[in-house]
Amino acid sequence: MSEPTFPKSPRIDALDKVRGAALYAADQSRPDMLHAALAVSTINRGEVLSIDTRAARALTGVKLVLTHADMGEYKPPGHVLAGGFGFQSIQPMLSNKVAYRGQPIALVVAETLEAALEGAALIKAKYDSQPFQVTLDGAPPKDIVAQQGSLLPQEMFADKVAGDADAAFAAAAHRVDARYTHPPQHQNPIELVSTVAEWRKGTLVIHEGTQNSGAIRHGLARQLGLDPARIEVISPQCGGGFGLKNSLQMQTLFAAVASRKLGQPVKLVVPRSQLFHDASFRPASRHHIQLGADASGKILAAVHEADQQTSRHDLFPGVYAEMSARLYGIPNFRGRERLVRTDVQTPGYMRAPFEQPASFAFESAVDELAHTLGIDPVALRLRNDTQRDVLTGKPLSSRFLAECLQEGAKRFGWNKRKAQPASMKAKNGAAIGWGVACGAYKAATSPTMARIAATRDGRILFAVGGHEMGQGMRSAIANVLVRQLRVDPQALVIQVGDTRGAPQHLTAGSWGTASVVPAAQEAAQALLAALAELAPGHDPALTPAQVLALAGRERVEAEVRRKAPGQPDAVYGRLQGGMPAPAGPAYPEFVSMSYVAHFVEVSVEAVTRRIRVLRVVSVVDCGRVVSPVTADSQVRGGVVWGIGAALREISEVDPRYGGFLNADLAEYVVPVNADIGQIDVAFIDQPDPLLNATGVKGLGEVAMVGVAAAIANAVHHATAKRIRHLPIRIEDVL
Ligand code: MOS
Repeated sequence: MSEPTFPKSPRIDALDKVRGAALYAADQSRPDMLHAALAVSTINRGEVLSIDTRAARALTGVKLVLTHADMGEYKPPGHVLAGGFGFQSIQPMLSNKVAYRGQPIALVVAETLEAALEGAALIKAKYDSQPFQVTLDGAPPKDIVAQQGSLLPQEMFADKVAGDADAAFAAAAHRVDARYTHPPQHQNPIELVSTVAEWRKGTLVIHEGTQNSGAIRHGLARQLGLDPARIEVISPQCGGGFGLKNSLQMQTLFAAVASRKLGQPVKLVVPRSQLFHDASFRPASRHHIQLGADASGKILAAVHEADQQTSRHDLFPGVYAEMSARLYGIPNFRGRERLVRTDVQTPGYMRAPFEQPASFAFESAVDELAHTLGIDPVALRLRNDTQRDVLTGKPLSSRFLAECLQEGAKRFGWNKRKAQPASMKAKNGAAIGWGVACGAYKAATSPTMARIAATRDGRILFAVGGHEMGQGMRSAIANVLVRQLRVDPQALVIQVGDTRGAPQHLTAGSWGTASVVPAAQEAAQALLAALAELAPGHDPALTPAQVLALAGRERVEAEVRRKAPGQPDAVYGRLQGGMPAPAGPAYPEFVSMSYVAHFVEVSVEAVTRRIRVLRVVSVVDCGRVVSPVTADSQVRGGVVWGIGAALREISEVDPRYGGFLNADLAEYVVPVNADIGQIDVAFIDQPDPLLNATGVKGLGEVAMVGVAAAIANAVHHATAKRIRHLPIRIEDVL
């Protein structure tokens, strides 16, 4: 149909990474660099009445202590979804107000990290503390916000409607009506939230691992009242983002202000314990699912109602029902989302932000329906396949979910499953359960601008908007450039995450590859066209450097820009202004989604009732796979995270105390190597014919969608117990 499949080339940055040559923001060091640390609020809501900074100021090595009283005048960044650039609208320390436990109240800058930390520990504050609420359950009904996103895109709050779901549900012969809850969770990128700020001849240079260097440039410019052209943001590597690093965060201003006041570079690393309160997280949510079907397993009606936590000061819209609506061909669908204000930092995007909780609820309910009807859960899902989008009626650009299910069932050996729950046993007496669940995720695209150059010494320089956060963006770009230009991978210099190279888009929502890879392909073609002009009729076997030699030139350049089908030219302005500008999944002529099917085997030990995931088979339709090696890793990471979501992860909240209690990696429990069994990953690898010329959709997030549901369904199959909350623990299956 199009190009052949891509080879399993190793990660282009693999050697740099294992040798420690890949530099992250906090690796930056300067001879005169200072270190900063934060003191944080010990109340949940109220005001700082007074702060005693004398002991900190008196400490040897301490150069500067800042509080709201002496920070100076800066603009708040604004919430990223309300026309701003920040993960929340509040910039701490611009007033004495406290909106959540852990909010910074003082910054200590010192010659050594030790002095900064000691100084921060010596800060003493007096507060006026006010009542607060941190859970969904404590919300009085008036605090539930329904479709009131005045500053937000209204479609985020609109009900998702097709047909008449309530009438079709009432009339259905077979029904499931169930409620599920999902806890708050915190992503914990191994690279901590950190910034090194330095002023070079009037230009502010920010080193920060981020998914959005454009937002940092423009948001910081707004905060400081600077021309954005006087700020450069350099983020060649980001050590895990997962949504947490997708906008301007509060520590960046602190580092910039301290560096300007002191005339020296300043490094501010937010420690793990503070990250739980000073960066975003996955909010708590609760889900009401109703499914109505006929005896053959055709689902005629589905309702998905979700309530989600937000902060007191920002509306972070949950968009849960979109995935549920688009997973199958259910003709009557109604989805509704509401928000509950709580006294926490503004929650945000965390890998598969809505799709992970939504799929846990929805795909558990689909399993409940299969059990009610006595239909095999794979067969039930195949029965409800579609090639048309339910919400818009438009055709899907490509959908191979049935193939994912069929291939997965074959690899897993699903035909040996005994339908009766609690009927399969291991030799050691453990109960065995086999579960399946599917996931979908939007195939979005960001507008992209890119520059390419070939040099006489044999290098190919490529700069594009996009961020390398470990997912393998450079490797995917490299595979495309190598194929198009027939050059050695070592000749490539790929600049991403750097405002000096190209306008930087927000890299999130699994649109990274589908945005930069087609741009790389077009840039390479533009470069080849420029070379053909330099030396008309040259032998096509010549390398770009040989053509330059033939033409007597040192360098040739080309520039391209591209946007999604149907996007107006104005999106380039948004891109250049640091605003999110993606399109999708609904385009003018089609709707585009990625899909996955997960098959899981769990064992539940006879005496201890410990749940273990013995093996997982995951088959993905993400369009063309451009970098098979990094794609495989993406799916493994998503599966492991799904295992964590199902069996381990929860940010513990005490409504009397507020904040999050288990704010470190010792108590926020995630799977370790010994928890992970066999993971078999496969791709359909069929190019999408409509979304872009390379045929890629998106992979990062869909990989995780449905894993937790597949595990919950397997636990039901092993034990006959239906667990409708996460994480599932021993006490749930005693
Ligand atoms: Mo991702 S959670 O969209 O950064």
